[in-house]
Amino acid sequence: MRHMAIVRNIVILTGAGISAESGLRTFRAEDGLWEDHPVEQVATPEGFRRDSALVQRFYDERRANVLAAQPNAAHLALGQLDREWQGQLLIVTQNIDDLHERAGAGRALHMHGEALSVWCIACDARHRWEETLRDGPPCPSCGKAALRPDIVWFGEMPYRMDEIYAALSRADLFVSIGTSGAVYPAAGFVQEATRCGARTLELNLERSLGSGMFDETRLGPASELVPAWVAEMLGGD
Ligand code: APR
Repeated sequence: MRHMAIVRNIVILTGAGISAESGLRTFRAEDGLWEDHPVEQVATPEGFRRDSALVQRFYDERRANVLAAQPNAAHLALGQLDREWQGQLLIVTQNIDDLHERAGAGRALHMHGEALSVWCIACDARHRWEETLRDGPPCPSCGKAALRPDIVWFGEMPYRMDEIYAALSRADLFVSIGTSGAVYPAAGFVQEATRCGARTLELNLERSLGSGMFDETRLGPASELVPAWVAEMLGGD
């Protein structure tokens, strides 16, 4: 691991693995979401045009699961780090759940959208949403039945990429938690962080596609690895 005297600026990337112990399915495990929901049908703009009812039902179910889930020890530890860390910190999550925020993290950014947000494709408004979309409810702004999940689908541009790259360029430490490294641009953040001189650490249940690109990889459940790492960072260990 590249030793660096001082760590002030941290970028953390999280994926589905950090929410697995909160009962939210990951995507590519044996019992993963993509095992019984073909990606091209439920997570592409083309799939939505072909069968919007199927897509709305899929995300209605995910929205209900998110509302029923609770943050776990890993989310809570990152919430504590967010509150106590004096330097710069950005939690970039690929997850559409709000468990980081419910665990007290104020510096979280959803690059793939949010389950509890909808987007009107008629007037471009976004609204917080906890109900279903399958019955085509009217947009609260324009009244048109043109609401879609506010989710970044395959083939669409992730959100707030400029902010993410700006934070990576200032990072002293890049930490990846619970992601398989299967999807770009997120899977390329470790290379960008390394190029900008940061140390890189992976916390994951199993080796990922990107493990070879990290200075250090620690294997185990996020609910154990993340609190231990946060204690190290806050000097509690
Ligand atoms: N603790 C830590 N890591 C875990 C745990 C756990 N309890 N459970 C699973 N993992 C790890 C797995 O080993 C795997 O490497 O989390 C990773 C989950 O990988 P994926 O299912 O591929 O999910 P993710 O990497 O978040 O997917 C990226 O792909 O499908 C799209 O838009 C979707 O945001 C998603 C993106």
